[in-house]
Amino acid sequence: MTTTQPRPAAAPSFSMEDWRSGYRSQPKEYSYWITDIEGVIPPDLEGTLFRNGPGLLDIHGHEVKHPFDGDGMISSVAIQHGRAYFRNRYVRTAGYVAEQQAKKPLYRGVFGTQRPGGPLANAFDLTFKNIANTHVIHWGGKLLALWEGAEPHRLEPTSLDTLGLDYLNGLIAPGGAFTAHPKVDPGHHGDPRLVGFSVKTGLSSTLTLYELDGEGTLLNQRSQTMPGFAFIHDFAITPNYAIFFQNPVSFGPLPFLLGLKGAAECIRFDPKQPTKIWLIPRRGGEVQVIDADPCFVFHHANAYEQEGQVIVESVCYDRFPSLEGSASYKEVDFEAVPAGQLWRFALDLDTNTAQVTPLITRCVEFPTLHPDQVGRPHRYLYIGAAHAPSGNAPLQALLKLDQHTGESQLWSAAPRGFMGEPLFVPRPQATQEDDGWLLVLMYNAERRCSELVILAAQDITAGPIARLKLPHHVPYGLHGSFVSQYFGPEV
Ligand code: CO
Repeated sequence: MTTTQPRPAAAPSFSMEDWRSGYRSQPKEYSYWITDIEGVIPPDLEGTLFRNGPGLLDIHGHEVKHPFDGDGMISSVAIQHGRAYFRNRYVRTAGYVAEQQAKKPLYRGVFGTQRPGGPLANAFDLTFKNIANTHVIHWGGKLLALWEGAEPHRLEPTSLDTLGLDYLNGLIAPGGAFTAHPKVDPGHHGDPRLVGFSVKTGLSSTLTLYELDGEGTLLNQRSQTMPGFAFIHDFAITPNYAIFFQNPVSFGPLPFLLGLKGAAECIRFDPKQPTKIWLIPRRGGEVQVIDADPCFVFHHANAYEQEGQVIVESVCYDRFPSLEGSASYKEVDFEAVPAGQLWRFALDLDTNTAQVTPLITRCVEFPTLHPDQVGRPHRYLYIGAAHAPSGNAPLQALLKLDQHTGESQLWSAAPRGFMGEPLFVPRPQATQEDDGWLLVLMYNAERRCSELVILAAQDITAGPIARLKLPHHVPYGLHGSFVSQYFGPEV
């Protein structure tokens, strides 16, 4: 038997002050040509990058308890002929407009933000603000800001003006909800489709799966009941299945009802329960449920069918990564919170078993890949990563994983750079899966400003081929899309 000495902690790759400075509210709305550019924007890169995320971390001085409670702000970078136009606009949700007029918080946030006045002002108030802050997609000719608790907001794609709530051509009713993580099926059944879902949860849950054609018209819909509480943020698709991980968590709503905590703060991880993996056939047929060891998943990288198995690759945490115990998310002790790792689940449909293999043990989040590989075996994955190979830390690097060779490439912006979600944009007429660019809106704490970096995906170790320096910051964001249409000013 060997004894292991505790290893001396490595010096952190970042300072908390730098990291925290990316969580300042950005109340201003800008529109301008980006002029401070290091390197060259590839002339064949054309289209518009849309990003969503919390833009306000306080409402007139009242700090949000968790950044996920911040009002949604859309940023766009329209790129054409080697030039780039930046714009950011708040989604004019009813809550944003009312609170900006009132100059104070009027709603409770799902992640714990309370109205001023303590429990009595918050008890039994179950109305949430539709904060529209999680994702932004362009589908069926509409630009939609998504938040999983409520209806999408439709925006004008060039001006980013809010046009109002959108019910997806009658798919959802007023008061209904739509996932923040719809998947674009690149054409497994002929034409591209948008596959999305909504969940109603409580003691038991109902999940509804929708498939829309390119015009946004509903092609089919099916509902599935799931026993128990279901916290499902994301899912994965293959040509034949929609795959959902029901995390082993329970919901004890009392502190929420009493106004002491936000709804998401009442989630408890239960390590005695398995993670339930639901395989719902997209074109009808019997649902299969496979138990796996308990873990917590927000995001899936991809899924595909291979030799009678369904493979799912997901960012897994060994328990629910709650920030409990920290006075503020800005004081979070990274070492006390579990880190996300990329795991591969090989689901055997005959034996009803899951075989789990770690693919990336470094702390990672926000996986992405070539849009044509969604639901198909992929060779390359790109993901935000910590600078150090172990431990939990903010994302400061990008990692590219080659599944054929098992090799990975890393580009780190540490110590003062902080990474957001990367997006892969294929080069027009490319024949190789990694022939294209990675676009990342990152935060540079040295300038206290954000930058859009463009990397050649075939060699990310070479660093950015272009760095578009914004003269202001965009607070750390969540998800976004790249569309090949140029939604910038006419030139
Ligand atoms: Co997400």
